[in-house]
Amino acid sequence: MEPARNVELKAHDPDPVATLARALAAGAEERGVLAQRDTYFAVRSGRLKLREEDPGGATLIAYDRPDAASERVSSYRLVPVPDPGALRAALTAADGVAAVVVKRRRLLMWETVRIHLDEVEGLGSFLELEAVAQPGSDLEREHGQVAHLRAVLDIPDAALREGSYADALAPAADPELLALARAAAGNAYAPYSRFPVGAAVRTADGRRFAGANVENAAYPQGQCAEASAIGALVAGGGGAIAEVVVAAPSTELCTPCGGCRQRLREFTPDDAPIHLVDLERVRRTTSLAELLPLSFGPGHLAA
Ligand code: THU
Repeated sequence: MEPARNVELKAHDPDPVATLARALAAGAEERGVLAQRDTYFAVRSGRLKLREEDPGGATLIAYDRPDAASERVSSYRLVPVPDPGALRAALTAADGVAAVVVKRRRLLMWETVRIHLDEVEGLGSFLELEAVAQPGSDLEREHGQVAHLRAVLDIPDAALREGSYADALAPAADPELLALARAAAGNAYAPYSRFPVGAAVRTADGRRFAGANVENAAYPQGQCAEASAIGALVAGGGGAIAEVVVAAPSTELCTPCGGCRQRLREFTPDDAPIHLVDLERVRRTTSLAELLPLSFGPGHLAA
């Protein structure tokens, strides 16, 4: 079974009343207000959430989409759930819960585009556009629909948001750790890749250590920022890592390489937050549970 697809956009909406008026003036139709509770499970790839909706029922939603603050294509599967309590318990036991997002959604339809005016608990007001694609569509029509509504609803670039509501609800990064990682990125020695990276780690007892990538004219001798930060941690007395920041002034999300995931695994519990950031914001908060599932660690040797 092929997944369904849509072209979608998410934006912060400082004035939902004005947006509603604009959408109605553009010919959108009101489809009611829904109370939604989404439980995101800590899965290995993509995202998996149980949506419980009133009015309506429960649906398991598995989806995959790039994190980009612009129009993006999402592919998804919807599975009706007759017994949400039992499914929630089963998936919580198997995978754990990554986040719970509670929101009030005003749903409108314009042509085949769903317009969501969302009030998200703890986050504020947002607007989503979802142009639902026909099977086999080249997505040209759907991109056109989203572009048209974006213009009509007057959504500026600065309002666009990437990631999911669950990402935005992730624990805030330690500001000092952020500053250390960004400063380290500023000092990186990366003349060959021109891809500077800084990493910083915080121990549970509050010590912070940073490192940068250090490249070399003999390319394979280059070292990643995470490895440098872990070296500083060990030299400074060692200990378990409670929080990690990886900073890169890049438009691409800088995810730790495979080797560094394993290096972090030596000192970092599965659920400790790992913030992937640029110079302005935290773009994604993840953990080793997501980055390095089924991993091998010190416990295996002790067993
Ligand atoms: N790099 C890091 O330091 N950390 C990462 O998480 C990804 C990549 C460095 C290695 C190399 O110096 C440059 O980025 C380009 O690969």
